[in-house]
Amino acid sequence: MKRILFVLGLTLCCVAVWAQGVSVETARFQVGDNPAWSNPSFDDSAWPVFTLDKDWNEQGVRNPDNFAWYRLHVVIPAELKEGYSKDVLLDLGPIDDTDETWLNGVMVGKTGSNPGDPEGYNCRWSEPRRYIVDPSLIRWGQENVIAVRVYNAGDPGGFFRGPAWIGKPLLGDYATLSAAREDGKVKAVLETRLKTRGTVTVIKEDVLSGEQLEKNSRKVTLTPQKPYRVSVPMEGRVRVQIVYADDNFEDGLETSVCNPYILTPPAPAAPRYNGPLVFGVRPGSPVIFRLAFSGERPMKFAVEGLPEGVVLDADKGVLSGSCQTVGEYPLVLKATNDKGSAQAAFTLKVGPQIGLTPPMGWNSWNCWGLSVSQEKVMASAAALINRGLADYGYSYINIDDAWEAEERNPDGTISPNEKFPDMKALGDWLHSNGLKLGIYSSPGDRTCGGYLGSLDHEEQDAKTWASWGVDYLKYDWCGYSKVFDPSKDHSTAASMRPYVKMQQYLREQPRDIFYSLCQYGNAKVWEWGAFVDANSWRTTGDIQDNWESMSGIGFSNQLELYPYAGPGHWNDPDMLVVGKVGWSNNLRDSRLTPDEQYTHISLWSLQAANLLIGCPIDQLDDFTFNLLCNNEVNAVNQDILGQQAHEDVNEDGIRIWSRDLYDGGKAVGIFNLNGASVPVQLDGALEKIGLKADTVRDLWRQKDIPTAAQYKVPSHGVLYIKVK
Ligand code: GAL
Repeated sequence: MKRILFVLGLTLCCVAVWAQGVSVETARFQVGDNPAWSNPSFDDSAWPVFTLDKDWNEQGVRNPDNFAWYRLHVVIPAELKEGYSKDVLLDLGPIDDTDETWLNGVMVGKTGSNPGDPEGYNCRWSEPRRYIVDPSLIRWGQENVIAVRVYNAGDPGGFFRGPAWIGKPLLGDYATLSAAREDGKVKAVLETRLKTRGTVTVIKEDVLSGEQLEKNSRKVTLTPQKPYRVSVPMEGRVRVQIVYADDNFEDGLETSVCNPYILTPPAPAAPRYNGPLVFGVRPGSPVIFRLAFSGERPMKFAVEGLPEGVVLDADKGVLSGSCQTVGEYPLVLKATNDKGSAQAAFTLKVGPQIGLTPPMGWNSWNCWGLSVSQEKVMASAAALINRGLADYGYSYINIDDAWEAEERNPDGTISPNEKFPDMKALGDWLHSNGLKLGIYSSPGDRTCGGYLGSLDHEEQDAKTWASWGVDYLKYDWCGYSKVFDPSKDHSTAASMRPYVKMQQYLREQPRDIFYSLCQYGNAKVWEWGAFVDANSWRTTGDIQDNWESMSGIGFSNQLELYPYAGPGHWNDPDMLVVGKVGWSNNLRDSRLTPDEQYTHISLWSLQAANLLIGCPIDQLDDFTFNLLCNNEVNAVNQDILGQQAHEDVNEDGIRIWSRDLYDGGKAVGIFNLNGASVPVQLDGALEKIGLKADTVRDLWRQKDIPTAAQYKVPSHGVLYIKVK
């Protein structure tokens, strides 16, 4: 849209008027709640002016679990009236967490619901607010008041996207196009709230070569309440794209569906080592390590060079025991089966640092949410072994929120609730198989799910967890917002305090506990996480299984963070959303397309991110196995240099990210963020980042490919390579 034209500025708000509409950059802001604030004639001149591109925390206000109001004042020039005979759009952007919106005193929209509402609290922080209003509500040529009541749980809150926009609605405000795979077909549905006409085009292409297999268009008339349906047969590695172009609107609708396609070649039947090349343990702490060899079972294991006190179970391939003496112990890990044998050079580092490569394992949250139980955890743990994921280095089994009893015991200690009959037995079983146990808590009195937190019981909890055999703690800020009043203390030290406190007690336990901070990246945690002895820190809010969330975290949020990652301390962009997710008992397939899932795993591999699987492993499908168990892709994530990738190129929707590897190679991801596939001349792309090679390794397909060629990178997909 062409922006810029006439009139700029008003005394109160920063307003710009363009040919098609009006943009509002600021508003009056007030913490609290009062129904009178929806009234256009209310005098808000004493309220401070806030910009709409930064949340209220960034403008110096902490206001967790509370209401606040924005009042946007905007003169809508009479000249714009023309062309608005039908509807006007109020585009407010996303609002963290809920909103109710009035235009000149008339309620015009509500998204989410507040605590106390009959339907209960429903947070919708990321959803764009696009309210269609009747033009008769507008005071043309005069000042209009848009009053927005916002509720926010936790921090941060409010507007944050940038200017609000008052203009013409788009086709997308009236029509939706959705598509899904069903019985070997793509079934698409086009629905509108307007009678209109346009063209539907169906394009079928080979997902690997990008070759167009079929294309046909049809003129259609759309009528409200009469969905227009398209059904297209779909076999093999095929992507079907459906495009709708409307005769009356400039924008169109587009969707595509792709059959999941497997790129990772099957593992050989003979043993192959797929695990990390280094493992750190503190002197005297239990060694818990499972040798990650794929290949047919039964398999026999051997290890050369073990220090005194560390022993191998030769049938299971599990190291246990402990070593008192600080040192670097070069080992040779060996495995043999009927089909052959393999070995790997490995270093056991006995010293102060643990977490020398990013943690790999499973966490209950993205699948089970608060419905987690010991039975569900055991099912995933057993499947980690039976389905062979443990042969690729996945070793942590982490219980997230909702394991806690309702009340503390009379002596102040914590117990699990009835869904977890025996934590110690769970820990023992995991350890006997070389796997590790993780737990979740909060420095507040309550967790995000409303369960008991560790406030004032930090030492007791650390001891209890150690007695169950806990090896990993995710410590989630959440309820701590109620305890700590940051409006009185903005210092970084204040944000560090609860984490330092727990760290001290974790260190007192006779075992290594990987310390994972979860405070959504507040107070630039990456700058101080390592100083509170954290092994990783969440850099973002919660991930969701959609492109906006995953790519927003993976590309934007992580941009500047690579200098802070390294052996022992990692940036954590949140857990994986591949396979079945649902945050409840209602599981569904990830809403990321197959290409988006390849992008997700490639990015997390490049970024040396924690690889915590978020789906039930016992329900894993072959496609998801292929994503999680590609040894060459995982080897980049686990590379012992521990260098997180950085972005080299951001041009025309193509992003190139790369990282150095310990063997002198370089891993390079060429990502296509466009809505259509893009041919990439590989040698040309490499030249842009100063690299030259005749052939490179295609990591997903595990084969060498020439660079003097064009490769089609699918929409939202990736070409992930290693340059030797
Ligand atoms: C959130 C956290 C999630 C999950 C959840 C549990 O704060 O970011 O990953 O742990 O709490 O209630």
